[in-house]
Amino acid sequence: MGEGSGYGKVILFGEHFVVYGLPAIASAIGSKTTATVTCVRESGWHLEDERPEMPGYKREKADQQRVSINNILRFAGLPLDRQGIKIRFGGDLVCASGIGASAAGCAALARALSDEFNLGWDDEKVNEAAYEGEKGYHGTPSGIDNTAATFGGLIWFEKDMEGGPNIVRRIGLKEPADLVIANTGITADTVEVVADVRRRREEDSRQFEEILARYRDLVSEAEAALTTLDLNRVGLLMNANHDLLVEIGVSCNELEELVALAREEGALGAKLTGTGRGGNIIALTPGKRLQEGVVNAFKMSGVTVWPTRIGV
Ligand code: MEV
Repeated sequence: MGEGSGYGKVILFGEHFVVYGLPAIASAIGSKTTATVTCVRESGWHLEDERPEMPGYKREKADQQRVSINNILRFAGLPLDRQGIKIRFGGDLVCASGIGASAAGCAALARALSDEFNLGWDDEKVNEAAYEGEKGYHGTPSGIDNTAATFGGLIWFEKDMEGGPNIVRRIGLKEPADLVIANTGITADTVEVVADVRRRREEDSRQFEEILARYRDLVSEAEAALTTLDLNRVGLLMNANHDLLVEIGVSCNELEELVALAREEGALGAKLTGTGRGGNIIALTPGKRLQEGVVNAFKMSGVTVWPTRIGV
């Protein structure tokens, strides 16, 4: 039996802007998706998906997941006409939009296949396979999600728009920072939201370029604030990043309510994370007291919430 895993992640800065070659900062979270691959007699692949989920997530993503698995198997060059495989997904990462569930599954499967069939894949190769898998979910992914799912940690990511190697480097944090993830209960469609943003850019390219320029300054400052652990500044920059995401039309009422509640409860900053129009927000809540306060406020409002840390 082959085994593998992939990290869940949050995007701290730069979702959507990363699609256009701007830098983004992402962090792995404590939870992972695991995969096992076992050879079976019956040809083709057979799935047992035991990942925990927000209601409806796996059903809504089932068709995309099928394409994703086929992409990874094609990349691996494994013909399954004579004998087949059983794929089993598990782990403690709760499947929801904005938490890198699809990418974590892709990285986990890539590692499990490499393990079972002695493909000898290193992390770079796992990341390439996971990128092919992500195409099943996103169409044209920037590559940030699979990179964060494969390598873990806190990373700076810049897509090479010419198709060359992306820039990926680790950002060191002097100590981990507490974060809260809160869920809207809405599963977002990344393909649709990314396409809407592209349309908006085509309709008003001057305004879009102006937003991108503001974001570029913001993300450089964010890296500096993270490395000096100036969390007050990081929080303010998260708020500013959220405002830009509102301007490009990827927020929604449910996300705005969560962001407002987190800020009211004292979070240093709060923003949507990932695709938007559903999925999750993240709130920066350094210190157990602040983190617990924000978590409890969400729980009292009936919101599903996960306390976590970045920079571990
Ligand atoms: C989705 O997690 C992140 C987006 O920026 C899309 C991408 O980077 O491919 C919205």
